[in-house]
Amino acid sequence: MRDYEGRDGIMQFGGMSVTDIAEEFGTPVYVTDEARLRENYRSIYGEFSKYMDTKIHYACKANTNLAILRILEQEGSGIDAVSIGEVMSCLKAGFTPDRIMYTGVNVSNEELKAVSDLGVMINVDSASELERLAKINSDLPISFRITPGVGSGHSDKVITGAKGSKFGIPEKDIIKTYLRAKELGFDIKGIHAHIGSGGLVSEPFTDVMEVLIRTTNELKDNGIDLEFIDMGGGIGVPYRPNELEMDVGELAMSLTDMVLEETDVKTLILEPGRYIICDTTVLLTKCIDVKDAGVKKYVGVDAGFNTLVRPAMYDSYHHVAIGNKFGKACTAKYDVVGPICESGDYLAHDRALPDPEEGDIVVVYNTGAYGFSMSSNYNSRPLCREVLVNGGKAELIRDSELIEEQWRHQRIPERLIG
Ligand code: LLP
Repeated sequence: MRDYEGRDGIMQFGGMSVTDIAEEFGTPVYVTDEARLRENYRSIYGEFSKYMDTKIHYACKANTNLAILRILEQEGSGIDAVSIGEVMSCLKAGFTPDRIMYTGVNVSNEELKAVSDLGVMINVDSASELERLAKINSDLPISFRITPGVGSGHSDKVITGAKGSKFGIPEKDIIKTYLRAKELGFDIKGIHAHIGSGGLVSEPFTDVMEVLIRTTNELKDNGIDLEFIDMGGGIGVPYRPNELEMDVGELAMSLTDMVLEETDVKTLILEPGRYIICDTTVLLTKCIDVKDAGVKKYVGVDAGFNTLVRPAMYDSYHHVAIGNKFGKACTAKYDVVGPICESGDYLAHDRALPDPEEGDIVVVYNTGAYGFSMSSNYNSRPLCREVLVNGGKAELIRDSELIEEQWRHQRIPERLIG
């Protein structure tokens, strides 16, 4: 897990004291370190591209803040998008359509039309989607998502590649669906699979690559030559203090070796979301209340599962520290809980913390991926701010929502007024 420096007992983030950031922008606030974001992109791109032509399609579902998208656009990234909203956000951030690939599931005809009209390549998820797309436009470059029969992830809820999954073309239908696409006149470019999210071992990635390679070669025997293999995302990051990183350099060497040795495919596409953005960001939240409930002690903070849902939704571990008592000796164990009216509203369970007090700044680590992007208005709480830090300076990249904005699309029928 990435850790930070303390200065006079205050945690430093992107060259700033977390207490200064919290004071200037309020809490809760997501804070992203621009330098780390650029470094993460460069590191994964560098590891793979030294062996073969590689395109990194950042999975923007992890975080679609426009400033973050701009930075990745500048770095040369492509995009994995799953909705018309994501596609349009990326266009707004300066990506050209040819750098975006759309991989949706259960996509409506309206969305298929909107995405293809924008000139974005579609990764087709089912035989039915193919037929529906053909009626819209069959003169398009496309790729297919297959169900590889290999799944991996930090929770069952995020495993997508296992046999029987709702995602992709099942093995028995793959060749005939590609042949059908050829018959319909599509320009077939590639093959895609995504095993799931947050894996920290390399085997599932090499396993899925074997399936992709085998299928690519079967397609070749059937007269279909592919330009790229897209092996999805899913590379995990360590969330716990003693957890080890995956050796991405070694993974890059073995995967590219497999593709170059066993196929004629020249381009490899990867869709990392978490790997690029996760450890660039911390969530700062303020301690509002400290409670000793006898059998348990609580630190009550101003961020709940409306702000960060991963612990409540997946039982995910996020490391927490008290930013203004950084490196101080821990005094007892606490649950860190939020303001949402449900007992499942927690950020952390049983964490040793140094004498928490009202006003302390609690720092939640590794919140760049699926943090803000999964936040909600539950309990009518406004979405929070996002800040970008770079070289000791902080800039607002999303203001907090006004309560009034939660009403902007609601209507009270005339008959209920008065
Ligand atoms: N490509 C496809 C087709 C995907 O569905 C996903 C993630 C990715 C790439 C990026 O996966 P990553 O590199 O970020 O693992 N909300 C969950 C994670 C859901 C991931 C969904 N698909 C979480 O908070 O852990």
